[in-house]
Amino acid sequence: MSSTPDIDDLVAQARQAVAAATTIEEIREVSTAVSGKKSPLAQAGRHLGTLDPEARKALGQRLNAARAAIEQLIEERRAEVGAAELAREMEADRIDLSEFIDGSIPAPARRGHLHLVTQTRDELEDVFVGMGFEVAEGPEIETDWFNFGALNIPPAHPARGMWDTFYLDLGAPESTLLRTHTSPVQVHLMEEAVAGDRLPIHAVMPGRCYRRDTPDARHLAVFHQIEGLVVDEGISFADLAGTIHVFTTAYFGPDIHSRLRPAYFPFTEPSAEFEVTCTICHGEGCRTCSQTGWIELGGCGMVDPAVFTTVGIDPDRWTGFAFGFGIDRCAQMRHQIADMRALIENDIRFLRQF
Ligand code: DAH
Repeated sequence: MSSTPDIDDLVAQARQAVAAATTIEEIREVSTAVSGKKSPLAQAGRHLGTLDPEARKALGQRLNAARAAIEQLIEERRAEVGAAELAREMEADRIDLSEFIDGSIPAPARRGHLHLVTQTRDELEDVFVGMGFEVAEGPEIETDWFNFGALNIPPAHPARGMWDTFYLDLGAPESTLLRTHTSPVQVHLMEEAVAGDRLPIHAVMPGRCYRRDTPDARHLAVFHQIEGLVVDEGISFADLAGTIHVFTTAYFGPDIHSRLRPAYFPFTEPSAEFEVTCTICHGEGCRTCSQTGWIELGGCGMVDPAVFTTVGIDPDRWTGFAFGFGIDRCAQMRHQIADMRALIENDIRFLRQF
């Protein structure tokens, strides 16, 4: 029996070997080595037949107890290692459905937003609604009559040269066009008000306009205007100037200076141009304002009695003022955009700033 290793030692060695196994495969190998047919434990039982019955029984029991202990160790280790392997596999197979900035904070999904021009249109509407104006709209495709004729600009009148027009190939030549300004909406409103006996009018009319212009820092061929029209009794130029002043301070804030300069428009008399200090150079003169220090936002004036007569409004009873200015220009000056073409380039880095 002295050549037989001590059974307690065998169990201790098996315990060490089992604990060192880190995969199911290693456990299988260890299991064969410590309890298989060629294991020291199996060899220790070889001599059982040569022993007397009492000694055989005693050794047999000890060997059985040792085998049971070793098998239990193996089972426990197999459960541990199996659970760890499963966890590793699950971790490796996990599909990460979230995007992470630095491994810990889920990146907020970027939401889109309204284009700056749309935001500006909404804000301008709000300013005028706050002053008691209604909001109206009109068609972008107009007849020559609404865009020019009814606005006191007869065919071949030199003032037509003020607007480079896109004509549509519909009907008689130069009879249908893409509106060059929002002023024709005034005519629609006045005609509807007369037909429905709904004077007075206090309305703003935002919308898209088209001109055969070459785009530059201050011009786009497709741009936006907001038109204003007030027709009431006893309206004077002071009401117009006051409205423009209130609007300018409300939209641009008190730091921006505005001014009215005498001008000519066929549908208003007297007429004025409405300008604000260039916010790119703060009036110093730059490329955006063509070195003038001022940016023209639009025109305005007292509605010409000839226009009233055309739409059937009695100019002896009613007076009114009108204005029309560029929404894109307002956005440009408010947000100091040196080149207006940025508004239509759709560069996401630009659009995200607003
Ligand atoms: N429609 C003119 C333009 O686009 C601007 C304008 C001037 C509108 C005078 C008006 C106005 O309503 O009274 O150039």
